Parts: sequence; structure tokens; C-alpha cells
Amino acid sequence: MQQGKHIGKVVVSMPETGDEQKSIKPEASYLITGGLGALGLEVAQWMVSEGAQNIVLTGRRSPNETAQKIIEELEAAGASVSVLLGDISTQESVMKILEEISASLPPLKGVIHAAGVLDDGVLQKMNWEGFTKVMAPKVSGTWYLHQLTQDLPLDFFVCFSSMASMLGNYGQGNYAAANAFMDGLVHYRRGQGLPGLSINWGAWATAGMAARLAREHQNRMQSSGVMAIEPELGMQALGLLLSGSQSQVGVFPVNWPEFFRQMPGLAKLPFLEAFTTKLVEQSQKGQILEQLNVASETEQEKLLTSYLQSKIAHIMGMTVSQIELEQSLTVMGLDSLMAVELRNQVQTELAVDIPATRFMEGITIVALATEIKQQLIIKTDKNQTIESNNQEQLDQNKDSNWIEVEL
Ligand SMILES: NC(=O)c1ccc[n+]([C@@H]2O[C@H](COP(=O)([O-])OP(=O)(O)OC[C@H]3O[C@@H](n4cnc5c(N)ncnc54)[C@H](OP(=O)(O)O)[C@@H]3O)[C@@H](O)[C@H]2O)c1
Repeated sequence: MQQGKHIGKVVVSMPETGDEQKSIKPEASYLITGGLGALGLEVAQWMVSEGAQNIVLTGRRSPNETAQKIIEELEAAGASVSVLLGDISTQESVMKILEEISASLPPLKGVIHAAGVLDDGVLQKMNWEGFTKVMAPKVSGTWYLHQLTQDLPLDFFVCFSSMASMLGNYGQGNYAAANAFMDGLVHYRRGQGLPGLSINWGAWATAGMAARLAREHQNRMQSSGVMAIEPELGMQALGLLLSGSQSQVGVFPVNWPEFFRQMPGLAKLPFLEAFTTKLVEQSQKGQILEQLNVASETEQEKLLTSYLQSKIAHIMGMTVSQIELEQSLTVMGLDSLMAVELRNQVQTELAVDIPATRFMEGITIVALATEIKQQLIIKTDKNQTIESNNQEQLDQNKDSNWIEVEL
């Protein structure tokens, strides 16, 4: 796991609730909200392969061609698949779905809440509609599901949450908050003696929300050391977690040293302490500064431009040769989220403070390198002044030692 070869599990809390096996039962029904989406369909297939006979899939829209084909395959395998349409964020729909299950299907034994939508963007530019749209299925939806099933003897109540609520993610403030609500609700349920599990998934490969994101977002994720979850491994993890006792678990394949190198701020999170490799972080930070310290002025400029060129290429998911030194960063495609990432990395590795907005003002790499160099020179001057002041103080202290002894 530390080498990033396996799925990394960050166990946030492990309340003791016994070793009861929550295996899938043929004589039960299972509700999958967002069941006509990519992960919902994956779960449905996995459940049927585990022996489930009665699956309920919900969504607001009728199944598309892919969903229809999978439903037919599941039915051909002997399962009964009911599609119940409705908006999970309204109490009325949730009631209707549950009433229909109770009237015509075997007892409901498990809920997988996988309904969700994305509407990414920086918070300053987000409107209320974009915020509530993302919150609705995860906040209202989860709450109604919780309220209206709390008297049923469920074996599991699983929320498909995201690593965004565990670690944060650029441009996903609304999505992180929505998922955090589910994480919290699951802990609340456990406190009430009810089953509950929130899985903070990383991005899944092949299909689903993350796979639909623009390529540069995916590249950015990969460049931060987080790899996509292969469906087979994801389902394996789900199976393990359903028979486990954790209430919140992060599941994402990750290369920890690279992860902490790209996002050093996260190394401070207490629950990631076990994975923190401080040495890696320190040495990466030291490397470029050390080189700059011993370089001549012309060499410093070269070092900084090539440092910035490779950072920007990395963040934008491009090759170094595609990054032009005299071209404005925004013209090359740097957006505000990438600017924040660049600011964070430059701040951590060079210990200089360039506001993220500066990167969006048409600045080129050459101009940026000059600006950083100036900040470094001022810092060196300040350090030298402090050093010489310290020396003077030391000299004075030498003289004043006598007085102290006298006193
Ligand atoms: N895919 C990933 O990489 C990933 C990573 C971390 C977490 N997750 C979480 O896993 C879940 C499933 O993701 P996915 O990739 O399968 O997404 P998806 O393919 O977009 O499926 C989500 C489904 O939710 C349904 N839905 C959205 N709002 C709804 C509402 N108000 N009422 C009822 N249904 C609603 C959508 O159908 P309609 O639009 O027809 O209603 C859609 O089919 C999401 O909650 C997501 O946050 C996914």
C-alpha cells in the first residue's frame, strides 16, 4: 500500500459493532439510488454475482441504452430488477419508492445511496443553484432515506461519498460539503445503533462522474499520486467493507510519497500521519532552493524558468515542450483551479508568496521567474540583515556579559 500498488484504506473510525456478516441474501431486496448511473450499475452487477435476487434501481430519468442492456443481462441471470423513477431529494419520492418495495418485493435489507451530481467551480463564482443542485441528493436525499428506513431491520446503509470530503479537492467545495453531510450522518446513525457506512471513494476508472471529467482534471489527479479505482478492485473493497465494522473509510489507490510531495499541506492532517513521509517532503522542498542558493544570477533565472515550466506542464497535463516561456499562462490554458495549485506548490517549495490571481493576469513564465527571483533576493537581503543584526547583538552581548556578571 505504501508503494501505491494497492488500494489505500484510511480507516477514520472503527466503532465496535460485532463481527456480524452482512452478506447479500437472495430472499432480500436491495435499493440502489443512482442505480442507473455508472457505479450503481456496477454495484447491481456485483450484488447479483453475490447472490442477490431482488434489486431496485432508482434515478430521475429512464434507463439509457447501457443501463437497459445491463438490466436485461441481470434479469437473464435470474435476478428481478425494478426501476423506480423519482427525485431522491424529495420526501415524497423516497416514500413512494419505499412503499412500492414494501408492497411488492421481499423485505428491504440494504441501501446503497449512490445518487449524486457534480457542478464544479471555484466557490467565489458559484451561484446558489449550483450549490443546492449538488447538495440535494446527498443532503436531503440521505436524510429522507435515513428517516424513512430507520425502523427497518437493514443489514447495511451505505453512502457513496467521495475523497473530496475527506481531503478536499480543487473546485469541489459544494461536492465536498454534500459528501461531508453523508459522512456525518453515518456516524450519527451508528450512534443510534443503526447500520451505516460512508465510503470516501477516489475517482473510478472507465465510467462514472470522474471518468466524465475533462482530461486535464484527470491528469491533475494522477499527477498528485492518486490513481483511478479499477471496478473489480472497487467491488472487492465494497465486499470487504460490507462485512466489516467501520463507519467511514477512504478507498483510493495512492502513491503516498508523490501525494504528499504535490499536496504538502495535507501531511498535517492527523489521520494521514501514518502515511506521512516527512523526509520526502523536506528533501523535495530543499532541492530547488539549495540549487538556487548556489547558482549565479543568470543560472538562477534559468533554474526558475525550467522549474516553472515543468511545474506548469505537470499541473496542466501537458509536456514540457508544449509550455512556452513567453506566452501568457492563461492563453496556454491555465485556469483558476490550476493557478491555486501552482501557487501552493511554489509557496511550499520556494517559500515565496505569489497570489493565485497573479497567475491569471496574463503573466508569462519569464516574468514570473523574475518576480520570484526578486522575492528571493529580498528574502536573502533580509536574512543577511537579520544575520548581521544578530552578529551585532552577539557582539553587544559579549560586552554586556560583564555587566550581567557584575549584577
Ligand atoms: N465515479 C466516481 O469516480 C466517484 C468517485 C467518488 C464518489 N462517487 C460517488 O458515487 C456515486 C455514483 O457516481 P457515478 O460515477 O455512478 O455517477 P453517475 O454515473 O453520474 O450516476 C449518478 C446517478 O445519480 C442519479 N441522480 C442524481 N441526482 C439524483 C436525484 N436527485 N434523485 C435520483 N437520482 C439522482 C443520476 O441519474 P438522474 O440524473 O437520471 O437522476 C445518475 O444516474 C455518486 O454519489 C458520487 O458522488 C463517484
